[in-house]
Amino acid sequence: MIDIQALRRLLGDIWSVVGSRYGLYLCLLALTGLMEGVTLASVVPLLAAIGIGEGGSGVGGVVSQTVLGLLSWLGLGVSVPAIAGVILSSLFLSTVFFLAQAYVGISLQTSYVSQWQKRLLRGIFAAKWGLFLKTRNGDLINSVVTETQRLGGAFYQTGLLLTGLLHSAIYMALAAMLSGLTTLGVIAGGAFLFLVTRPLIQRAYRIGFGISHENAELQVKLGEFVGSAKLLKATATENAAVGALNGIVKRLQKHILANAFDAQLVKGIFDFGAAAMVASILVISRSVLDIDAAVILVILAIFVRLIPKLTGLQQSLQSLTSSLPAVANLNEIVRTIEAEVEVSRTGPLPDALSDGPLAVSLQNIAVSHDTVQVISNLSIAIPAGACIALVGRSGAGKSTLVDAMLGLVPASAGSVSVNGINLNELPLYGLRQRIGYMGQETMLYNTTIRGNILWSQPHHSDEAVMAAAASAAADAFISQSPHGLDTMIGDRGGRLSGGERQRLGLARALLGNPGLLVLDEAASALDAETDAAVTRALELLKGKVTMIVISHRLSSVRMADYIYVLDKGQIVESGTWDELKGSTGQFSRLL
Ligand SMILES: Nc1ncnc2c1ncn2[C@@H]1O[C@H](COP(=O)(O)OP(=O)(O)OP(=O)(O)O)[C@@H](O)[C@H]1O
Ligand SMILES: [Mg+2]
Repeated sequence: MIDIQALRRLLGDIWSVVGSRYGLYLCLLALTGLMEGVTLASVVPLLAAIGIGEGGSGVGGVVSQTVLGLLSWLGLGVSVPAIAGVILSSLFLSTVFFLAQAYVGISLQTSYVSQWQKRLLRGIFAAKWGLFLKTRNGDLINSVVTETQRLGGAFYQTGLLLTGLLHSAIYMALAAMLSGLTTLGVIAGGAFLFLVTRPLIQRAYRIGFGISHENAELQVKLGEFVGSAKLLKATATENAAVGALNGIVKRLQKHILANAFDAQLVKGIFDFGAAAMVASILVISRSVLDIDAAVILVILAIFVRLIPKLTGLQQSLQSLTSSLPAVANLNEIVRTIEAEVEVSRTGPLPDALSDGPLAVSLQNIAVSHDTVQVISNLSIAIPAGACIALVGRSGAGKSTLVDAMLGLVPASAGSVSVNGINLNELPLYGLRQRIGYMGQETMLYNTTIRGNILWSQPHHSDEAVMAAAASAAADAFISQSPHGLDTMIGDRGGRLSGGERQRLGLARALLGNPGLLVLDEAASALDAETDAAVTRALELLKGKVTMIVISHRLSSVRMADYIYVLDKGQIVESGTWDELKGSTGQFSRLL
């Protein structure tokens, strides 16, 4: 049966997100049902007034009495126009309430979805870098794009379910006032139909899980394949990719088909059951119970409206059940990302750090990835304005060391400090705004050259952009590009050469003379001449900007004031170029 706990969690969540406005929504739902009920109830005296059935005080009991009482309270006699007027007014009111309920419902639903999306977006980007290493990007994207929409669907179905319940209760109460026995019969028939369609609800939950899973798979795999389209084309493996994606699409189609058909199956069963019930009511009411013709007509009218509501009730129960896995999934993702929130001081950077080069010091730090220790007991002190080079074999821990300096990965022991202040005491956000960073993989966005260079510091002028580009030896190719700084560079900069991409990344890192410049293999794709030009530009920054350069290139290493050789997460050699150039240790084998 339906997962009551999950449903209760959903309702609790809806209440906590949209708040008391949900109460207003429920009131409007009740009012719509009530007005529909009044409309139907007024039909008994109307029929009597036009000569169908006996009417009067004995028939239709409380319902007729109420309508007649209402008429006399309004000072109107029992006439066809008066009763028709009551019916029309209640219909009008019912339409107004319906529209108000629809508007409130839709605006609450969209607000519920967008609040969830905002919460996810905030959570994802407030998380530590570590989250992105252990979570599939596609799962995060799927949660924001697809699962929240399914949550919106669940919200909608919750509304339908509550409307269905309320309206059915009102109709049944009305019918019970007209004929208790007939109503009891209908309740029994309805319960039987619910029992018959129960297995479909259980199936809906399983199908819902399938839909959640396959949507996430599609997002994850499609993201990977589109991102690696060049490799797929070059190695003629696109068919394998399409095959894998088609497999997911096929499974998704199977689940969606089953879900949609089950909804129709429910409708079919209820429709047929309802027809059987209506026929029985007619026969039993007239020949066995000998009920007044007007009352029978109204009871029938009530049931004709009630039965689609019962069908809708079961259908929304089924749809809601198939959306509940999305609720569970989103709660799980939010729990994961919010547990990974990056904790740091807030507020502005201390004055001493807000200008000029930064001094960085690592004291006996250790860093682990999962359970493997990658850096152990390592100490380095980089004076403000110094340029140091980090060299070492692939996998020695150079990038990890830089990640620890930026607070991207935590040090499990020891401490990192900037200008003598422990990193834990500093607002990371403010500090990182003072860092020019060029990671080992050049990250570019599908926007203009200017947009990419200005990414982290959008307030700079075109002159500053071109000055940074000149330092990165990127000015010539930018000027030759068809639209200069306005040239679009494609996804991840795919319309540029490898070296051009690197120089653009470098220009971004250099913009606005950062307090600390981190260059992780920033020149690996450059030819010797361009590399020499970049090195000359970097040399001009010495003293003004603290630089950490990770490189295997002689030119970059020679430029450094001090060189650290890393191996297996420890410093194995260090010194100036002159001190190390005669080394017989690892340094001599690296360059
Ligand atoms: N996210 C991660 N999870 C687990 N292990 C990792 C992770 N990142 C790096 N490692 C491991 O940590 C070690 C150091 O990696 P790091 O990237 O710091 O090396 P590196 O010196 O920068 O190498 P390269 O010159 O190849 O870039 C490697 O053994 C690597 O496999
Ligand atoms: Mg590296």
